Amino acid sequence: MLRARLLRSSATGIGAGTAIRLAEEGANVVVGDINLPGAQTTATKITERGGSAIAVPFDLADESSVNAMVAKTIEEFGAVQGLFNVGADLSPGNLGRDKTLLDTDFDVWQRTLDVNVVGFVRTARAVLPHLLANGGGSIVNTSSGAAVSATDGKRPAYGASKSAVNALTRHIAKNWGPEGVRCNGVMPGLVMGETQQEQNDVQLQKMFLSHVPTTRLGRPGDLAAAVAFLLSDDAEWINGQVWAIDGGANMRA
Ligand SMILES: NC(=O)c1ccc[n+]([C@@H]2O[C@H](COP(=O)([O-])OP(=O)(O)OC[C@H]3O[C@@H](n4cnc5c(N)ncnc54)[C@H](O)[C@@H]3O)[C@@H](O)[C@H]2O)c1
Repeated sequence: MLRARLLRSSATGIGAGTAIRLAEEGANVVVGDINLPGAQTTATKITERGGSAIAVPFDLADESSVNAMVAKTIEEFGAVQGLFNVGADLSPGNLGRDKTLLDTDFDVWQRTLDVNVVGFVRTARAVLPHLLANGGGSIVNTSSGAAVSATDGKRPAYGASKSAVNALTRHIAKNWGPEGVRCNGVMPGLVMGETQQEQNDVQLQKMFLSHVPTTRLGRPGDLAAAVAFLLSDDAEWINGQVWAIDGGANMRA
């Protein structure tokens, strides 16, 4: 039985789609995000469909808010059994200024690594003792195809942050797998959540469809299905893997 799945940064996009999917499968879901109204919208969608969810504000860059979110989870649902790390600073003021080595300011590097990587460290450190106390659990980290490709030669800080997420995934899997804590990752291709729809980068969409052996762009539900599986007991023997969920953009068999 699922008790509490903790989802960080689930106000929109892949996080929201996954929160809804996990609730449909019977999990109690904590929808955490820096965007509280967005998290509340996701939680309300779940409860209106008869599921169980609460929304909690938190900031990946603020350890005390991460700890408070985990404490709220225990208070509300009694335990934590899983963690889906999905947030990233994709804002125009940060990702939009991540260009090339020569013209990306150091504050962009610092912010990107602090939120996208150290943020996942903060949440994993807060959740891990609870998973161990329960006899195990599952963590899924969100990486990106940018971790394993040079894409268009831009966004070095973002790509480095996602490569680091892959390393963090292996680290957790190796150290706590023997105690029943699995850690895996997902690397999405171009997934059309709210952020991507708003940006509506038609050139990027055309480029993706012309290079990738698939019939369509990605949907949040594509990731939700894979994450739900990796968080479930059916994936008990899958540990330390980072799966490309991208229509075949990165083939690494
Ligand atoms: N959609 C894609 O095409 C794609 C491709 C590769 C990787 N990804 C990864 O998937 C994940 C989800 O992206 P998405 O496309 O659903 O975008 P999204 O904008 O819908 O989701 C990002 C979420 O992170 C939250 N967030 C930002 N800063 C935060 C902070 N400091 N603390 C807490 N939450 C914070 C945002 O409020 C938002 O809800 C990200 O890690 C992204 O890097 C997405």
